Amino acid sequence: MKVLVATEKPFAAAAVDGIKKEIEGAGNELVLLEKYTEKAQLLDAVKDVDAMIIRSDKADAEVLDAAKNLKIIVRAGAGYDNIDLAAATAHNVVAENTPGQNSNAVAELVFGLLVFTVRNFYNGKAGSELKGKKLGILAFGNVGRNVARIAKGFGMEVAAYDAFCPADVIEAAGVHAVKSQDELFQTCDIVSLHIPATPETIKSIDYKTVNQLPKGGILINTARKEVINEPELLKLLAEREDLKFITDIKPDADADFAKFEGRYFSTPKKMGAQTAEANINAGIAAAKQINAFFADGCTKYQVNK
Ligand code: 3PG
Repeated sequence: MKVLVATEKPFAAAAVDGIKKEIEGAGNELVLLEKYTEKAQLLDAVKDVDAMIIRSDKADAEVLDAAKNLKIIVRAGAGYDNIDLAAATAHNVVAENTPGQNSNAVAELVFGLLVFTVRNFYNGKAGSELKGKKLGILAFGNVGRNVARIAKGFGMEVAAYDAFCPADVIEAAGVHAVKSQDELFQTCDIVSLHIPATPETIKSIDYKTVNQLPKGGILINTARKEVINEPELLKLLAEREDLKFITDIKPDADADFAKFEGRYFSTPKKMGAQTAEANINAGIAAAKQINAFFADGCTKYQVNK
């Protein structure tokens, strides 16, 4: 079987080596399309492949139409909002993700960004510390749990809200389970977003929600840009000079946010999962899932069931 790795933002070389070893070790063939800049390159590369591994690369209906032989697509990572699941199902393509494989990397970046923020982006002026601050984690999945673990090491108070995770599971992890998203924003100094982009969450982080943060509040987004209501957040930042917005996913209105100097920061490219360890974990998991699918039909991580 021919397996394509299509990554506009490439994996670390060690991850590519590991994927190659897995795929070829199972008697399959690996082809690479890295750092592509045009969709046409992707459309051409998918024409004759049986399987593909992607990251945030868009697998929309056009890509799935072009991939005539495709049987399985694996998103090496957690969020699969970049795959048109209806189109995959219509083409009888199994879509999978690799949950948990890159969550520590994203969680560590949260703290890299937070220290940078509370120390005034290292501008030389006295900043503040994370110890004793209250951190609110919105969604207690694999990333949220790792964020909680690290926050405790910093001596932070940690609270979480997750519409789908029972309070006793959150409390069992030594984290205070608040009763609502509003309560999380009202009671925490910093709120870290770990929600997926779904019809329910898209644009849900709006003026009313963020305005509940106490004075000096920080909103940090390492999830998806789509969950932010950008016009409303821009309006709020203009009105409240005490708030800061930090993101690992450049907003569409980046230039407008950038006007809030000292209160806004965006990484140039999504960096959360961009570590050798996360690439190796997620990439090799994806390769193994493809091998298992071709060997015995295993679809354990299918997301378009
Ligand atoms: C994920 O959903 O796994 C993360 O957002 C990582 O995305 P990336 O592979 O594009 O860095």
